[in-house]
Amino acid sequence: MGAPKAIGEFTEGLNEINASSGDVPVEGSRSSRLKGNTSSVYDMAALGSSKGDIWNWGMYDEEVAAEIEKLIPGFTDFETDGISEQLYFLALKDIPLGFSEYSEKSVLEVGCGSGEGLNFLSRLLGDGSNLVGLDLSPLAVKRANATLGRGDRLRYVQGDAEELPFEGAQFDVLINIESSHTYPDLRTFFEEAMRVLKPGGYLAHIDVFTRQRYELMTRLKRDLPGLDWIHERDISAEVRAGIRRRLAPGSHFRKTFADKRLPPLTRRIAEHSRTVIFGGVFAGYQDSGYIKLLRKLGVLPHGRHLPVESYRHHVAVKTA
Ligand SMILES: C[S@@+](CC[C@H](N)C(=O)[O-])C[C@H]1O[C@@H](n2cnc3c(N)ncnc32)[C@H](O)[C@@H]1O
Repeated sequence: MGAPKAIGEFTEGLNEINASSGDVPVEGSRSSRLKGNTSSVYDMAALGSSKGDIWNWGMYDEEVAAEIEKLIPGFTDFETDGISEQLYFLALKDIPLGFSEYSEKSVLEVGCGSGEGLNFLSRLLGDGSNLVGLDLSPLAVKRANATLGRGDRLRYVQGDAEELPFEGAQFDVLINIESSHTYPDLRTFFEEAMRVLKPGGYLAHIDVFTRQRYELMTRLKRDLPGLDWIHERDISAEVRAGIRRRLAPGSHFRKTFADKRLPPLTRRIAEHSRTVIFGGVFAGYQDSGYIKLLRKLGVLPHGRHLPVESYRHHVAVKTA
């Protein structure tokens, strides 16, 4: 499938999944098709990624920035704005375990993308911790193992969030960041998360929500046995602050992608795509007159953005 077709079908699928507040699983063949599109799109992302790239919208909170700087002095002085890493830091910050308590603990990230976020966490956690990243995209996993893998300390496996390739009760902590909005069956993912966690293990879940998807989440939190939800926070303001910092003129992000060799039209389209992919619509960015004109002329498709209402962080503990 060509790139524009795969991206178009992926976006349509996202809208479909997130427009429903019911948790009736999507019919099998439709679900496989949706996952096939997801896998193709993130395979493309893996091919186009550079060292250090993390694939989430990020957030900005001064206190979190200061805490990271204290642990890794000079962290944002070289090659990162630290914005995507803040979401990873937050995922563990609200779990009642200190970073030093992770020696001998096993952590699974479901939907680990480039693997760079988990690699960042490996710098904060005790030497004895075992970190496993799982992703649907075979190329993302291959790339992560080749560039970041370190034996049992940090490894990456290909798999599906709704059918985790692990025995039960394996992990002390499971994190899931900006990934579950692409899962056709959110209930099955939570059941799988619960299955692979040890009793007393923690789940940190961070994601975007449409109104309907949040209704589903609220119902699942109430109805699913075996997970005790101990924390919920709407972090939309922090995420919008991160997106605005990242997309501001002259930012590290803008400089990294400013390729003056591209013809002006291609450059404007590439900048627009990056603004959308990195959450610009959620942060209030509007199409410029130029982009509107390109749409009118049929150079750009009339994209239907996912109507994201909030960005939230939840923590649950698996009951014994
Ligand atoms: C927006 S990226 C976020 C990646 C990473 N968590 C981060 O914060 O950079 C979403 C990731 O979820 C993965 N994903 C989507 N559906 C999945 C599924 N059913 N099982 C496992 N991974 C999935 C995608 O392949 C992609 O790498």
